[in-house]
Amino acid sequence: MSKRKQLRALDEAEAQELFAEQDPVEMALDTFLAEGLISAVLYPVKSGKEATVYCCQAPAAAGGKLFAAKIYRSRDHRGFKNDAVYQEGRVITKGQVRRAVQKKSRFGREVQFDLWIDHEFEALTILHRAGVSVPQPVARAQSAILMEYIGDHQRAAPSLGGNDLSPRQARIVFDSVLNDIERCLAHNYIHGDLSAHNILYWQQRARIIDFPQAVDPRFNPNAFFLLARDIENVCQYFARYDLLYDGRRISEQLWRKFKNARL
Ligand SMILES: Nc1ncnc2c1ncn2[C@@H]1O[C@H](COP(=O)(O)OP(=O)(O)O)[C@@H](O)[C@H]1O
Ligand SMILES: [Mg+2]
Repeated sequence: MSKRKQLRALDEAEAQELFAEQDPVEMALDTFLAEGLISAVLYPVKSGKEATVYCCQAPAAAGGKLFAAKIYRSRDHRGFKNDAVYQEGRVITKGQVRRAVQKKSRFGREVQFDLWIDHEFEALTILHRAGVSVPQPVARAQSAILMEYIGDHQRAAPSLGGNDLSPRQARIVFDSVLNDIERCLAHNYIHGDLSAHNILYWQQRARIIDFPQAVDPRFNPNAFFLLARDIENVCQYFARYDLLYDGRRISEQLWRKFKNARL
């Protein structure tokens, strides 16, 4: 082996050793740490279906603000079985990439994983700018996104189900969630997995989270079905507060407005 090859082999072995020792959470958040956006991971919030979320803190010099870091499950640990309904109508322009995704090859799955994260980051960016109550996105790393934290040093905001709302609060939250659904639609987004689990309630305010599967109602043939399901879930949840609405009717009205470009 030439001297140069020997050296390179040594470097690779060293690099592998270094990575093996690094904590996987720190590795996923490396970009945010290196850019000085965060300096500490305070506590894990929750491991969900697709991701684990951590409460992180910015360096004291940058104000010490809290952020949520959502680390997506690696492509090998996620199922893609339910993706089809959300993927229809999404266009991948590069032929080679599109075919790889369709064939679910390893490369295809890697691309899919990336698109999934991009999609959530983009949805949060557009919707936050549009005034929808979603956490403000801050930065994107290879397998994670950093966003506004809903909660404080002690605990994360509970989901809607973890609260006992007064009748007045329930009414306000119901109206705000329906307004948000309408505003999303006006910006060509349907959440697609909306339920009380994906609505956080903190300091009298509801925020919608978890957008990687969101669909574009202009192109996805399942759009109305997904919109109606989202609205039905919300209505069903609020029935416990004696707010009795016909979800189907609300969806049909909204859909008509969307189709007639009146949103
Ligand atoms: N910005 C945030 N602030 C506080 N907690 C959050 C935030 N985003 C997510 N969480 C918590 O992490 C959980 C999982 O996040 P979510 O985006 O719903 O991913 P999953 O697809 O795994 O359900 C949520 O149910 C919520 O408890
Ligand atoms: Mg969720």
